[in-house]
Amino acid sequence: MQRALKKRLIKLATAPFKAVGVIHYYWGRGKLGGDPIFAALIDEQIFPSNASILDLGCGRGLLAAWFLAAEKMAADGLWPANAPPPPRGLHFRGLELMGREPEAGNRALQPVYPGRVELAQGDMRRADFSNIDVVAILDVLHYVDYPEQDKVLDQIRAALGPGCLFLTRVGDAEGGLRFRISQLVDRSISFVQGHRLPRMWCRPLAEWVRILEARGFEVRTEPMNGANPFANVMLVAKLSGNLGHVTEAEGRIG
Ligand SMILES: C[S@@+](CC[C@H](N)C(=O)[O-])C[C@H]1O[C@@H](n2cnc3c(N)ncnc32)[C@H](O)[C@@H]1O
Repeated sequence: MQRALKKRLIKLATAPFKAVGVIHYYWGRGKLGGDPIFAALIDEQIFPSNASILDLGCGRGLLAAWFLAAEKMAADGLWPANAPPPPRGLHFRGLELMGREPEAGNRALQPVYPGRVELAQGDMRRADFSNIDVVAILDVLHYVDYPEQDKVLDQIRAALGPGCLFLTRVGDAEGGLRFRISQLVDRSISFVQGHRLPRMWCRPLAEWVRILEARGFEVRTEPMNGANPFANVMLVAKLSGNLGHVTEAEGRIG
């Protein structure tokens, strides 16, 4: 994504958070500016238009803020003709363990994008997976133990139909020093956010791919660290087929 476009999009995506507090606003600016996954999701046209997205461990709803702002820019004629167009008509449901974050996200985003985003406090292990085209779990799966990860993946697989997508990012446990640095940063941020220092249940990348493929997903992996010395990898796991309600012209998935 061009630097000027990214700057403009960050400004628009984070503007609604000014009304709910400086911490939320500056957290959003830092996250959207420093984490390469947000730009990559648009550049690589990962989400199709008109998809219902379930974001587990959604924090303040920055994924929703990013995409809804991009759609608004495009609708206002402000999206450059030579940049991949963002998807239209996305609907976001989010679930987050820490209640004050989704509450702030709702207060920020719902007045600006009515009917497009609903964030709630809750545990991804007890999520409502109904009526969903895309499940996103970014940097969250490792907070629950292996049997629970397996159960969450089973629930996702059972809920998704042909053409649907599971998007995740994990740390590659075989990533050496880079993996250990990312764990240290992750544990520090979790602690600051109010979690007790959690045990983390990480797996080697090859194992993540294997357990997703065993559930019928076609999996594409991509290192997703930007300038950070981490071992994070984005996995785009797709079920073959086409989404019933999304036409070719409305966008591709994965
Ligand atoms: C590293 S942050 C990632 C936030 C967001 N996905 C992002 O990419 O900006 C991990 C988030 O997952 C949340 N979390 C941890 N365990 C969870 C669970 N079992 N259910 C829902 N959220 C959880 C944490 O509270 C935290 O906000």
